[in-house]
Amino acid sequence: MIYPVRTIEEKINRYQKKRLLYRPTPVSKLERLSKHLNGPNLWIKREDLTGLALGGNKSRKLEYIIQDVIDSRADTVITWGSIQSNWCLQTAAAARKFGIKPILLLFETYETQKIMDGNLLLDFILDADIRIKAAQKGRVVKAEEVEGILEEVFNEVMEKGHKAYIIPIGGSMIGGSMKLPLGAVAYVDAYLELKKQMKSLNEGLDSIVLASGSGGTQAGMLAGAQLCGDSTRILGISVSEDRDSFSQDIKKVSDDVGDCLELKIDFKDEDIIVFDDYRAGGYGELNEEVSEAIRLMAVTEGIFIDPIYTGKAAAALIDLIHKGRFKKQDNVLFLHTGGASALFPHKQGIKKFLL
Ligand SMILES: Cc1ncc(COP(=O)(O)O)c(C=O)c1O
Repeated sequence: MIYPVRTIEEKINRYQKKRLLYRPTPVSKLERLSKHLNGPNLWIKREDLTGLALGGNKSRKLEYIIQDVIDSRADTVITWGSIQSNWCLQTAAAARKFGIKPILLLFETYETQKIMDGNLLLDFILDADIRIKAAQKGRVVKAEEVEGILEEVFNEVMEKGHKAYIIPIGGSMIGGSMKLPLGAVAYVDAYLELKKQMKSLNEGLDSIVLASGSGGTQAGMLAGAQLCGDSTRILGISVSEDRDSFSQDIKKVSDDVGDCLELKIDFKDEDIIVFDDYRAGGYGELNEEVSEAIRLMAVTEGIFIDPIYTGKAAAALIDLIHKGRFKKQDNVLFLHTGGASALFPHKQGIKKFLL
């Protein structure tokens, strides 16, 4: 069904949040990049400039999640991610801001040196309780694989007389102590924010291109577009999962968002657009196209993107433009979801392709 923006906002506002970001995040044109690619009108929304820690899409999600942690009277959060996880860094920073202790399970899902660099350095500065774990390379560690260890850490916290809250990876799927898809709800709100920004510029949006990892950002933006009845296509560039299974994850989270907001979202299968051909060999792997995309964004626009997420989304955007996916007059927005601090621990890979 289609709802007025005000109705959707009212439903979202029933969920309280803690303030963690400066909003609205900026939107601007990528004129030199559009020209260089002879492409459509390219735009960018700077979710990397949220203001929490070094910024990123997780700040928005954490506004609702930290509120839920506080409401549940927990004093410790437990979550997991990869060794250089942006999610874990943002969670640790958000937790610290509200006097909550962060415990991070960091999995070695790709090869980087275990030295204090990038987000790992920042996790140390935040004095997070960091527990580094071995993992299979090239893919994100899913919830069902960490159930045992989460339970162990949860019990350890409780035995010491504290109260723990387990946040699922990326704050997207319902799980752990999070009973609602709060991260994705935050991205419905982000979609409405973006819609208003484009309206004030007298512009519409044909497509939004974004990196998709745990799926909450894509599911929330998609739910936002569907609820508003907009024809804006949300193109999710998977960094880890294959298209078929990941599309189902996105659908599940979007459906949960509809239930949580008590609004009916009508999806057709073709509304869920996931590309899995830009994974560059697997999660955390780097290739020439991704490295070139990172360089092109920097030399045309002076903007840094990252090797694990936004670099892959940008490589996809460039390839899709070359393949004629967009019309020349289309407005295509690149959602910059953050993560540039991962450039430092991945310097060897980047040097290999760019020097
Ligand atoms: C920089 C960056 N972009 C995009 C994503 C993907 O967001 P989501 O997990 O909501 O799919 C992540 C997730 O960790 C991220 O760190």
